[in-house]
Amino acid sequence: MAESMRAWRSETYGPASAVRLERVAVPEPRSGEVLLRMRATSLNAGDVRLLLGDPLLVRPFFGLTRPKHPIRGMDAVGEVVETGPNVIGVEIGDLVIGELRGGGGLGEYATVPADRVQPLPPGVEAAVAVTLPVAAGTAWQALDLARIGLGDHPQRVLVIGASGGVGAFAVQLAVLRGAEVWASCADRNGPLVEGLGAVRTLDHRRSPLSAIPGGHFDAVIDVAGGIDLRDLRRLARPDGAIVLVTGDGGHVLGPIPRMLRAAFLSLSRGARIRSLAASSRPEVLTALLELLADGRFAPVIAQEYPFEDAGAALARIEDGHVVGKLVVRVA
Ligand SMILES: NC(=O)c1ccc[n+]([C@@H]2O[C@H](COP(=O)([O-])OP(=O)(O)OC[C@H]3O[C@@H](n4cnc5c(N)ncnc54)[C@H](OP(=O)(O)O)[C@@H]3O)[C@@H](O)[C@H]2O)c1
Repeated sequence: MAESMRAWRSETYGPASAVRLERVAVPEPRSGEVLLRMRATSLNAGDVRLLLGDPLLVRPFFGLTRPKHPIRGMDAVGEVVETGPNVIGVEIGDLVIGELRGGGGLGEYATVPADRVQPLPPGVEAAVAVTLPVAAGTAWQALDLARIGLGDHPQRVLVIGASGGVGAFAVQLAVLRGAEVWASCADRNGPLVEGLGAVRTLDHRRSPLSAIPGGHFDAVIDVAGGIDLRDLRRLARPDGAIVLVTGDGGHVLGPIPRMLRAAFLSLSRGARIRSLAASSRPEVLTALLELLADGRFAPVIAQEYPFEDAGAALARIEDGHVVGKLVVRVA
């Protein structure tokens, strides 16, 4: 077993340009954890938020003055190379997928609780499946919160921010649940999003949502933010749902003020606005892997990066406008 590894690290909060490829000790699995030799990770908007320590609200949890975990990357596919004490059901040599607690995917090795990983199904490619845990898991939980696919009448859903990591999955998964999907995204991404199954795309710069009649949707999934909550609420039927996924907001409190306002507005008659706090849910990942293995949907991957170029991948997430997901092949 190697004693040291390469990892993209940042000891201080700051931009992607400050992240460096360094040699550090291989982490040791603690009780209930396994050590993975990483095959691939994918990057999320949340990785850049934690890199920047923004909003400040996250810092008491992730490190007050500097990040507790200096290696970003929450999605993981890797081979189990060591097991800590009290690990049941995961063996050395297993190829597994899961979500890392606090990051670590941009290192050659990473530790993870054994109950957060599951076998990668045969025939499913690591670099494709690794896009699922955070982004598709979030999209799935947003659709659950909006009760998409649970009613007994046809549902019409609007996904705002449909071309991004979470949004592209939300469109595909809502279609799989039988919904008629409308999508808001940049004009240039319209054809791609229609290819994912949206029946109509709205250019978020040119087609104002105010032109859509009130109560047009059973649910609105907002992954992009920036739209007044009253305007969002107007779009859904009074018994419909608005789900706020976006983590955008101010530098100090992030989305909290918007979430509080959403809760307050929901007290009055009309569609309820719910804020999503997605979590690592193994049963959701299992369902997603089954759909992927059956070819029911295909993740949109903008680009794959070799491990040596992972810093550029982080910078690209920081710049925004990525269509779908970025994947880093670690080994
Ligand atoms: N609540 C939770 O538990 C949870 C979990 C995961 C992620 N999130 C949050 O979800 C958000 C999305 O994450 P992500 O990884 O999918 O990020 P992403 O890949 O950057 O996607 C955001 C997308 O929104 C689009 N967009 C921006 N402004 C828009 C507008 N006004 N109308 C329509 N589309 C617009 C962007 O496209 P263009 O700029 O190219 O138009 C981009 O494709 C982030 O804020 C993240 O923090 C929340």
